[in-house]
Amino acid sequence: MSIKSDKDIIGLRRVGRIVALAIEEMKNHVVPGITTAALDKIGEEVILRHGARPAPRLVYKFPGATCISINENIAHGIPGNQIIENGDLVNIDVSVELDGYFADSGYTLQAGDQDEEIQRLCACAKKALEEALKVAKAGVRLNQVGRIIEKTAKNEGYTTIKDLCGHGIGRALHDGSCDVLNYYDPLDRQRLKEGMVVAIEPFVSMKARRIKQTEDGWTLTTPEGSLVAQYEHTVIITKKEPIILTKV
Ligand code: CO
Ligand code: CO
Repeated sequence: MSIKSDKDIIGLRRVGRIVALAIEEMKNHVVPGITTAALDKIGEEVILRHGARPAPRLVYKFPGATCISINENIAHGIPGNQIIENGDLVNIDVSVELDGYFADSGYTLQAGDQDEEIQRLCACAKKALEEALKVAKAGVRLNQVGRIIEKTAKNEGYTTIKDLCGHGIGRALHDGSCDVLNYYDPLDRQRLKEGMVVAIEPFVSMKARRIKQTEDGWTLTTPEGSLVAQYEHTVIITKKEPIILTKV
């Protein structure tokens, strides 16, 4: 969507804050021994307490309030009986609807003991999002976002997942207005405009470029089992740095 009024900004800020609060609460509970269902419940409680609705369930009938993807699983992991173990790499992706507005954010962290190699991957993915946010200004070609994400990953010897991308958001979870690719597409002539609402979400992997659908019909994994880290924010594009909606 594109911002039309202050009402839009207020609505988006409200829903964005709920997403941020849910992620913060879930992050605090990413510890060895917890099931992904219990972690999901913690996020769901934050969402419901604010009178909002988990968007994956609302929009896609996803069997969970949030998506929790472990290790080589990239996205759309279904919360369930899986117990998070020491050293697991955990991705939490939370999207929420409130009063017809949507926000979406994701975060990746390791449970328990921290492994240097995994920390390096997470730091790079985090940096990819930060760098993307720095270039995402009104008037800039959309493909410059993908370019910096890909470059940041490549500099560290990593890859980005080509099959998954950021997206237009606001009045819908994925509104189809644009794809924020995680690589450079020289043919994409689209420019970012002031007031555009987008979710930017680099997926940085140790090796993978593609996704593989698993048998549960939801979970996306890497074909060769390599690890992935993703960080995501929903933002409003301005002439300067974007307004990050999914930050506490
Ligand atoms: Co997301
Ligand atoms: Co998203």
